Amino acid sequence: EKGGHDYFMLKEIEEQPEALANTLRGHFDGGRVILDEQRLSDQDLRDVDKVFVVACGSAYHSGLVAKYAIEHWTRLPVEVELASEFRYRDPVLDRDTLVVAVSQSGETADTLEAVRHAREQKARVLAVCNTNGAQIPRESDAVLYTHAGPEIGVASTKAFLAQIAANYLVGLALAQARGTKYPDEVAREFAELEAMPAAVRKVLSTVDQVRSLGQRIAESKAVLFLGRHVGFPVALEGALKLKELAYMHAEGFAAGELKHGPIALIEDGLPVIVVMPSPKGRAVLHAKLLSNISEIQARGARTIVIAEEGDETVRPFADELVETPAVPTLLQPLVSTVPLQVLAAEIARSRGYDVDKPRNLAKSVTVE
Ligand code: F6R
Repeated sequence: EKGGHDYFMLKEIEEQPEALANTLRGHFDGGRVILDEQRLSDQDLRDVDKVFVVACGSAYHSGLVAKYAIEHWTRLPVEVELASEFRYRDPVLDRDTLVVAVSQSGETADTLEAVRHAREQKARVLAVCNTNGAQIPRESDAVLYTHAGPEIGVASTKAFLAQIAANYLVGLALAQARGTKYPDEVAREFAELEAMPAAVRKVLSTVDQVRSLGQRIAESKAVLFLGRHVGFPVALEGALKLKELAYMHAEGFAAGELKHGPIALIEDGLPVIVVMPSPKGRAVLHAKLLSNISEIQARGARTIVIAEEGDETVRPFADELVETPAVPTLLQPLVSTVPLQVLAAEIARSRGYDVDKPRNLAKSVTVE
């Protein structure tokens, strides 16, 4: 059932183009983003004045990615919070607050309790979920199903990419309701999303390169991940994958924080994965990250750089270069996450661990 793969997770990694296409299918019609269930009026959506994304683990990282797009498209403030923190403080919620609860399983206890708390405070709740009829969508005012298909591997892969795409659709739905984007602009953003399955298919051609890299760094003590802007949550996700699968110390940092502490960790031979932004997108981000890589390389780090194909400027700083196709800046996480998934799985396999059944973890965390 692993479809000829050494481990199931690799099959799910390779299913990501199809999963993404399925997430997008049926969610845009007649020039409008369509949710699966909507017990909210258009006026309710128009009245939204603040968005909270609440989730756990990888789903939380999908929210961190989406914040950049939703704020940019809607001009609404977006806070992204771990469900386990959100539910135990006293967040400012009212009927004009939209809480987006993101959960693959739809059964995660903390996320479910966060939904209940939000509804008690009269906030509107929109669920982004991969499992039809699960508890979180049942208790929500609106639902967008990711339709990524069942995810068997304990570590989230295709559901994560699908969550990012679905969160973006939520952003576009809000932008169209609020009129912060013209219909043709919404259609253009959707068309860019529709090009992503092909881009992800392309990045899958790096699987063999990344597996061999994983084998070479499998004995490292630790691995650090650096990114900026949407690359920052990608760094967090890469580190989470490595912790849960390979039981290695792994940490993701915002590259701008390096000098505020983490740079002290750099020592000879330490692998540092850098998620580069596109040189054609936000030039300032690219320049800043280049200078960050040169700093860590000068201190002996082994730099592994995930960069856009044709970006020659990174070559001198990259001990290993993994190329991803050119895509719009906000969509980059959909391609740059993929090599990090493969890397974590392959390091785990090299260390002799069961990639599909990591120790101490359950697929769905229904107890706190
Ligand atoms: C990481 C992973 C977990 C889940 C988290 C939330 O690979 O799988 O961190 O993302 O437990 O689960 P859901 O999305 O089902 O609420």
